[in-house]
Amino acid sequence: MDRERLREKKVDQLDATEAKQELTYLAEEIAEADRLYHTEDAPLLTDGQYDALRRRNMALELRFPDLRREDSPTKRVGGAPSEKFAKITHAVPMLSLDNAFSDEDVAEFAKRVRRFLGIGIEEGLAITAEPKIDGLSASLRYENGVLIYGVTRGDGSVGEDITANLKTIDAIPHKLKGQDIPAVVEVRGEVFFPRSEFLALNKRQEETGGKTFANPRNAAAGSLRQLDAEITRSRNLSFFAYAWGEVSEELAPTQYDAVQRIASWGFIVNDQMQRHETIDGLLEHYASIEAQRALLDYDIDGVVYKVDRLDYQRRMGFVSRAPRWAIAHKFPAEKAKTILKDIEIQVGRTGALTPVAKLEPVTVGGVVVSNATLHNEGEIERKDVRIGDTVIVQRAGDVIPQVVGAVMELRPENTEPFVFPETCPVCGSNAVREKKENGELDAIRRCTGGLICAAQAKEQLKHFVSRNAMDIDGLGEKQVSAFFEEGMIRNAADIFQLSKIDKEKARGDRLRDRDGWGATSARNLFNAIDERRSVELHRFVFALGIRHVGETTAKLLGRHYGSFPALREAMIKAGEGDSDTWQDLLDIDGIGAIVARSVVDFFREQHNEDVLDALLAEVTPQEAEAVQSDSSVSGKTVVFTGSLERLSRSEAKNQAESLGAKVSGSVSKKTDILVAGPGAGSKLKKAEELEITIMTEDEWIALIAG
Ligand code: IVH
Repeated sequence: MDRERLREKKVDQLDATEAKQELTYLAEEIAEADRLYHTEDAPLLTDGQYDALRRRNMALELRFPDLRREDSPTKRVGGAPSEKFAKITHAVPMLSLDNAFSDEDVAEFAKRVRRFLGIGIEEGLAITAEPKIDGLSASLRYENGVLIYGVTRGDGSVGEDITANLKTIDAIPHKLKGQDIPAVVEVRGEVFFPRSEFLALNKRQEETGGKTFANPRNAAAGSLRQLDAEITRSRNLSFFAYAWGEVSEELAPTQYDAVQRIASWGFIVNDQMQRHETIDGLLEHYASIEAQRALLDYDIDGVVYKVDRLDYQRRMGFVSRAPRWAIAHKFPAEKAKTILKDIEIQVGRTGALTPVAKLEPVTVGGVVVSNATLHNEGEIERKDVRIGDTVIVQRAGDVIPQVVGAVMELRPENTEPFVFPETCPVCGSNAVREKKENGELDAIRRCTGGLICAAQAKEQLKHFVSRNAMDIDGLGEKQVSAFFEEGMIRNAADIFQLSKIDKEKARGDRLRDRDGWGATSARNLFNAIDERRSVELHRFVFALGIRHVGETTAKLLGRHYGSFPALREAMIKAGEGDSDTWQDLLDIDGIGAIVARSVVDFFREQHNEDVLDALLAEVTPQEAEAVQSDSSVSGKTVVFTGSLERLSRSEAKNQAESLGAKVSGSVSKKTDILVAGPGAGSKLKKAEELEITIMTEDEWIALIAG
C-alpha cells in the first residue's frame, strides 16, 4: 500500500504487515525531519506535524511491540538528538588548567614541580609563559598533513565536529606546510574573535537589527556554532596554536620548540611566549603581558606557565582534568577609581528599579566606563555609596562594570546617604520592596505600575517580539524602542496595527521613506508581523511576560489548558477564589505556588486584561497540539511515580497528554490513575488510602495501546 493511503488509516485499523511498512516509513520521515531540523535552519515540518508523526509511531509500537525497529525514533532518548553537530571522541583528552591568583601561588607551583621531579634548587627548571587567550579551544586533526576534522573541546573527552566552520578560518591551514610533518598530529589552540572584527560585527548587527554580542568570546562561540559555515566565514575569526593532542612522533624535546615547529607548518603562534629559569623572570613577563593587555587585538585573561621539557611533562601527567605541569595565572578583575557623579534609576521589564552609577569617565582595562551598576537598593544600603564619593569600579570578563564600593577616606564633607525613591521615576506608581518567604525585605524595589509604566511597557515590548516569544522578523529591540518612543507602538496590540498606522502617515514620514528602511524592508516587516497573527500557544503565553513564566512554564500551561481562552478562564476563576481551579493549577507537575500566584495575579490586573483584549483582536494563539479525545484515558488525571523502565518520564508524560490525560505531580482525590514503578513511596501510599486505581508501567502501556 502506498504511503498516503497507509497514512490515512487509523493505528487500530492497520494489520501487522501494514504496521511494519508504516513503521519503516515513519522511521525514515522522522529521521529526515530530525536531520533537516538540526542541519538546516529551515525545518520541513511544523512542530505539530512532527509531533503527530512521533505520536503515530509510538502508538503503533505500543500496539505491535514486536515490530519496534532497531532504528526506531523512540530509541533515541528524549526524542530528537539534541545535538546539531556530530560528536567526536578526542584521541587524547583536552584538559583544562588549574588557576593561580597570586605571585605566591606561582612560586608554590614551581616548588611543587621540583618536588615531584626531585629537582634540587641548584638545577635549572625552564618554564614557558604565554598569554591565556580568552576564546574557545579547538583540536585539529591532520593525517599526512591534511586536515581531517576539527572538534570543539566539549566536555574534554567528547567534542563536536565543527570541521566545516573551522575550515573557513584563514589561520587554520587545510594542508600543513613543510617537509617534517608527522603522519598524525592534532594541533590544539584557541579560536578567538579579534577585537577590531568584534566591534565591526556588533556595529553591523546593530544597524541591521540583529543580535549584538556581549564580548568577543561570546561572539566567537556564536560564530563557531553556525550551521551555515558561510556565516562563520563572514565573521573573520582567528586561531592561535599552543598545544597538541595525539601525535605519531615526538614533536620536539621542549614545549617551546614544539610550538615553533607547529608554527613552521603554517600556524600562527603567540609572539609573547617566553622561556624563563626563575620565578622572577616569569612574574616580570606576567607584568609585561598585563601592561599590554589593553593594546592587544584579542582578549586575554591571564598567563599560562608550562614546564618546558616534554619528558618532565610526561613524568608529571595530570590530576583529574588538569595537567600537573601547567598553571594559569589569572589577571585580577580590572579596577579603577573615579567620582560618582549621580545615581540614575532604571526600570526593567518586571519593574525592578536598578540604580546605575553615573561616573566621571574612566578607563578600566582599555575600555572607557561612564556607567556601572549598583545592582539594587539593598546593595546601596549595604555599601553606603553616596553621590560625590570616590568609588572603585571593576570590570571582569563578561559582566557589566560594577561599583565595588566607596573609598571612605576620600569622602567629601556634607555627603548624604542616598535616598532611594519610593515611587517609580518613570510612571510615578508606588515602588515597593516585597517581603521574601523568610520575612526579610527583598533587596530589589519594584515599580507596581505594570504596563502603565512606560519603562516596563517598553522592556515588555522588547520581550514580546524576542526570539523565543513572538519572534517577529525584522522587529528587534532597536526598532521596537524607536517605534515606542515615537508613539507608534504603545503596547503589543499596536504592533499589529503598524501597517495601518503607517498608511495614515504623511508622505515622507512613512516607514518606506525613512533612512535605513525603504519599500522592501517596510513591506517585509508588515508581512512578518502578519505571519504572526497565528502563533503557537506557548509562544504567546511566554510573550506576555508574566513574572516567573519562562518558556517551560508557558509550555506547561499551554499543554494543560489546551487553548488560550481555557487558560484565561481558569486563571480568572482561580483569581476569584475558586479553590478547585487553583488546586488544578498547582497540581501541574512543574508549577509551584510562586509561579501559580504570579500567573493568577497577572489575569487579575485590569490593564493586563485590556491589553489582552486588544491583542486577541489581532492575534489568534493556536490550540495546543490536538489531543485525542476518544482514548481510554482522555480526561483522566494521571500521576507517575517511582522509576519507569520502558518509558522515560517525559515520554510518558507527553504520551499521556497527547491522549488527552492530565498529568499531575501529586496524588489527590481527583487522581484517577497512579502509575507506580519500582521505588514508589509516599504517593503510592496515599493512592492506596484514597483507593485510587494503581497500575504498573506495563499495565499502563497496555491500557493506552488498547
Ligand atoms: S594549554 C594541557 N595554553 O584555557 C593544557 N590553554 O583554562 C592545555 N587557553 O581549555 C591548555 N590560552 O582553552 C593553554 N596559551 C594557552 C591557552 C590556553 C587559553 C585555554 C584553553 C584551556 C583553558 C583552561
